[in-house]
Amino acid sequence: MTTIIDGNKTAAATKTQVAERVERLHNERGVTPGLAVVLVGDDPASHSYVAMKERDCAEVGITSFDHRLPADTSQEELNALIDELNADEAVHGILVQMPLPDHLDEEAVIERIEPTKDVDGFHPQNMGGLVRGQDTMRACTPLGVMRLLEDYDIALEGKRAVVLGRSTIVGKPQALLLLEKNATVTTAHSRTKDLAGLCREADILVVAIGQPKMVDETYVKEGAVIIDVGINRTDEGLVGDVDYDMVESLASAITPVPGGVGPMTRAMLMSNTVDACAKSVDYSFD
Ligand code: GUN
Repeated sequence: MTTIIDGNKTAAATKTQVAERVERLHNERGVTPGLAVVLVGDDPASHSYVAMKERDCAEVGITSFDHRLPADTSQEELNALIDELNADEAVHGILVQMPLPDHLDEEAVIERIEPTKDVDGFHPQNMGGLVRGQDTMRACTPLGVMRLLEDYDIALEGKRAVVLGRSTIVGKPQALLLLEKNATVTTAHSRTKDLAGLCREADILVVAIGQPKMVDETYVKEGAVIIDVGINRTDEGLVGDVDYDMVESLASAITPVPGGVGPMTRAMLMSNTVDACAKSVDYSFD
């Protein structure tokens, strides 16, 4: 029997824990976590993501500060807003929704955010901390994948993990997080030779390649755990990077799209914001 990994369930449990922590911070330190979300321009998908993040904040008791800027916002104006949010004591997390309009420099924006408020975990200081095994902010999507694997008691130690995709947001941090849990990790990508053959060696296959339904039964070893990070809008609706119907019966566990990794990304954003707030007042939840 294949286990269907229910991201909505794990995300709900994560958010319940976050809400309890918000309460503790409020009661014991008199502080309420705050998340500033900055959206530049009018990309419809970004607008809907941002709306969902604001709803999540309301659900767990995090104050959300909403900054919607016109598409022609200059780098100087955006920099000024980030500086203001960096200095604002009520703001513990800052998220600038990507992608930014072409005339803005994403790298400069990421580097301008105070690393302790970088709840995306994209700042070089946080990425560097991950490489060095430090307790710095980690990117939400790969962190959400780790939480799912933990919640479903999927052992990683000594297992062969293949991460398909090498993006800075998902693939690279994902490989490091799996390595941290003592998996033997290979990062595969579009130029990998015999990609399907390599993926077939995986006990755990995390797919973040951005190609609708690319991973079919030729990529999957019987009994493998399949985590599909893909979210592709197609004529047949939202589909992942994995051809779910073709691989489901082979897998021991698999995430659906939607309802798998997607809800976890937002739950981990809430979790990172609460952690940033706790750190700012030297509070530990242990
Ligand atoms: N755009 C798509 N995913 C993300 C994300 O995780 N963080 C930010 N800031 N922008 C995104």
